[in-house]
Amino acid sequence: MKLLEPITIGGLSLKNRMVMAPMTRSRADATGNLIPLTTLYYQQRATAGLIISEGIAISKEAIGMPFISGLYTQEQIAGWKKVTDAVHQSGGKIIAQLWHTGRAAHSANKDGEMPVAPSAVAIENQEVYTGFGRSGFETPRELTHAGIKAVLQDYRQAAINALEAGFDGVELHAAFGYLPNQFLSESSNTRTDEYGGSIENRSRFILEVLKQLITVAGADKVGIKLSPSSIYHGIMDQDPVAVYTYLLEELDKLPLAYIHIMQPMFPVDEFPQYPKDVIPAFGHLIRKPLIINAGYTRATAEEMLQEDKAQLVSFGALFLSNPDLPERFRLNAALNVLDRDTMYGGGDAKGYTDYPFLEQQ
Ligand SMILES: Cc1cc2nc3c(=O)[nH]c(=O)nc-3n(C[C@H](O)[C@H](O)[C@H](O)COP(=O)(O)O)c2cc1C
Repeated sequence: MKLLEPITIGGLSLKNRMVMAPMTRSRADATGNLIPLTTLYYQQRATAGLIISEGIAISKEAIGMPFISGLYTQEQIAGWKKVTDAVHQSGGKIIAQLWHTGRAAHSANKDGEMPVAPSAVAIENQEVYTGFGRSGFETPRELTHAGIKAVLQDYRQAAINALEAGFDGVELHAAFGYLPNQFLSESSNTRTDEYGGSIENRSRFILEVLKQLITVAGADKVGIKLSPSSIYHGIMDQDPVAVYTYLLEELDKLPLAYIHIMQPMFPVDEFPQYPKDVIPAFGHLIRKPLIINAGYTRATAEEMLQEDKAQLVSFGALFLSNPDLPERFRLNAALNVLDRDTMYGGGDAKGYTDYPFLEQQ
C-alpha cells in the first residue's frame, strides 16, 4: 500500500504517508496547560507517519473556546515537551498547529477581552460554545496596524516556543474561518489599508506570518492548512478560485514543507463559485508535498496516492477513534466507531485514551 510507504517532506523522514489531522479535544486546563493524559493520547498515535497537534493558541488573545491548550507560557511549553518526547521515543514525528481564532471566539472565553479580527464584522447565524452555554458571536475589535504587527510577533514567538518544546515543525492553521482565513476572505476583511481590498492585499497577512515562521523554524519546517471551499464561520467570496489561485502561486515561492488542503465538510451546492472537489480545482497549482484531508477512507486515500494526486493523506476522526490506524489499514481490519459525545471536553480517559488497540479486541 502506498499509504504505508515512507516519504521525506521538508527535512522529515516519515515512516508512512498517514498523517493524524489536527484535532482540538478541549481537554487542557483553564490556563491552557495540558493534562497528563494528553501525553499518552499522542504517544498512542505515534505510528502515524506524522502527527499534527491539536490547534494550539499562540497567545491568550488567540483563544476562542474553553480548555484550549497554549504555547505562550513556560509551563505550557514544558507540558508539550513531554508530549513530543513521548512521540519521538515511540518513533513518531509531531508538528505544532499554530492557532489564532480571531473573530471565531467569545469574550466569555477570554477573561472578558473582546475577540480581534481584520474588521469589526461579526459572524452571523452561527453560535459559539462559551463554557456557559451557547451564544451568538460578538462583533470583534478591528486590529490596528500595530495590532497586526503584534499578532505577527505572537506567531513568531509561538514558533520559537514550539521548537523549544521539541516539535519537528509548525503548521499555520489558515483554514475553517479562523484569523488567517478571515484576512483572506472579503466577507470578513473590509480593511482599506495594505491588508485589505485586493486579493494580493488580503493574502498579505498569511504570507507575512509564514515568512516569520520560516525565519524561526527554518526552510522546510513550516506547513499550512487551507480550506478553499469552506464557508464555515461566515466565510464567503465572490471568486474563491481567484483568491486561492493567487495564494497558492505565492505559497509556491516559499520554502514550505507541505500544503495541507481540506475538502469542503459542508455542502456548497448553493454557491456554485466554490469547487465541490478542491483537488481538481487547485491540485495542479501545488508543487510542494500535498496532504489531502476530509472524509478520506482507506480505499479513497490509497486511490489518491496511487493516482499521484497527493503525497500524503490526513485522517481526523479515524485517528481519534483508532490509535493504531496504520496497522488496521495494513491488515484491512475493522475500525473502532467514533463516539461523538466525547470528542470535546472531559478530563478522563473516556473517549480520549481508551479507544482499544487491535490486540485488545
Ligand atoms: C474533534 C475534532 C477537532 C478538530 N480540531 C481541529 C483543529 O484544532 N485544527 C484543524 O485544523 N482542524 C480541526 N479539525 C478538523 C480535522 O483536522 C479534519 O480537517 C476533519 O476532521 C476532516 O477530516 P476527517 O474526515 O479525516 O475527520 C477537528 C476535527 C475534529 C473531529
